[in-house]
Amino acid sequence: MKWINIFILQVMIQPCLQVMLTTTAERTSYKAELGRNVIMGCRFFPLSQHPYEDLTVSWHWTSLARSREVYQMEKGQELNSSQHSDFRGRARLLTERIKDGWAKLQVTRLCINDTGTYQCKIRTTNGADYKDIKLTVTAPFKKVTKDIFKSAKEDKLVLTCQSEGYPISKVTWGDNHQQRLNASTTVVVTEDGLFRITTQIRVASSQKNNYTCSFNSSGSSRSFFIPEDTQLQKGNQRKVAVIIAAVGAIIRLALIGLLIVLIYLHQKGFGRNMEPDWASRTRRIFKLPEPTSNSRAERV
Ligand SMILES: *[C@@H]1O[C@H](CO)[C@@H](O)[C@H](O)[C@H]1NC(C)=O
Ligand SMILES: *[C@@H]1O[C@H](CO)[C@@H](O)[C@H](O)[C@H]1NC(C)=O
Repeated sequence: MKWINIFILQVMIQPCLQVMLTTTAERTSYKAELGRNVIMGCRFFPLSQHPYEDLTVSWHWTSLARSREVYQMEKGQELNSSQHSDFRGRARLLTERIKDGWAKLQVTRLCINDTGTYQCKIRTTNGADYKDIKLTVTAPFKKVTKDIFKSAKEDKLVLTCQSEGYPISKVTWGDNHQQRLNASTTVVVTEDGLFRITTQIRVASSQKNNYTCSFNSSGSSRSFFIPEDTQLQKGNQRKVAVIIAAVGAIIRLALIGLLIVLIYLHQKGFGRNMEPDWASRTRRIFKLPEPTSNSRAERV
């Protein structure tokens, strides 16, 4: 008796289930690097008779109770008016895949703050359904810059490593003897939402040793070789000193040359020839009367 009931129930429900729209996510989470592109896929079933004209798709971004519209299509028509400005020109639906039952969203030039949950909502004549997909945009700490200088107060070297990335990374310092060293580390957030980590250690300048800073999340590192690196710096300072001396010599030669030319012109009487003109110009500026032969007679 019971089996018959279930069979009857199934026969009744089956046609309904078959036409109900269901949406599935190609993947539940994606990871992509800053500046790259990502394509996130939602699949819908069944396809209606006019898959393009019947289709309404929306992609929404949410994170920590904030929400932004990424993309919207209503009955085959793309709507841009309510799209959040952050996604303008960066988000599109791969419309050529609609006929296969795909609503694939492409987001280009990814920013850190594109990280969040993307919800695809799909509606056709067969009903509506949605799925959530997580996107994480990362920026590995790749390029590490290093700097070394001598402390002015004490006889110590200050070694500095700096790098940018997201999410935040631990930094460790070690020396030649696998010894962990205590560092002072500061973190600031850049305009792009990256963490700029600056880490410093102070070491004895007289001791021969190697020091390495490592950004643990990416494995990027830089090494300092003491005393080789300090000699390199002294070498650079010597180079700068040589350049300054050369520029100084050139300026001095130019000044001497100019002086010689001036003396030469003076001896040729160039300056003297100019004098009457100078005198008349001065008179014009100060509105003095021109010296005439009868000016003396008037005064008398
Ligand atoms: C997200 O980051 C981008 C690039 O750094 C920036 O231009 C944009 O204004 C940010 N958006 C928001 C809502 O903070
Ligand atoms: C520092 O490391 C380099 C290469 O890793 C090695 O050749 C050198 O001997 C080391 N220096 C010292 C002082 O141990």
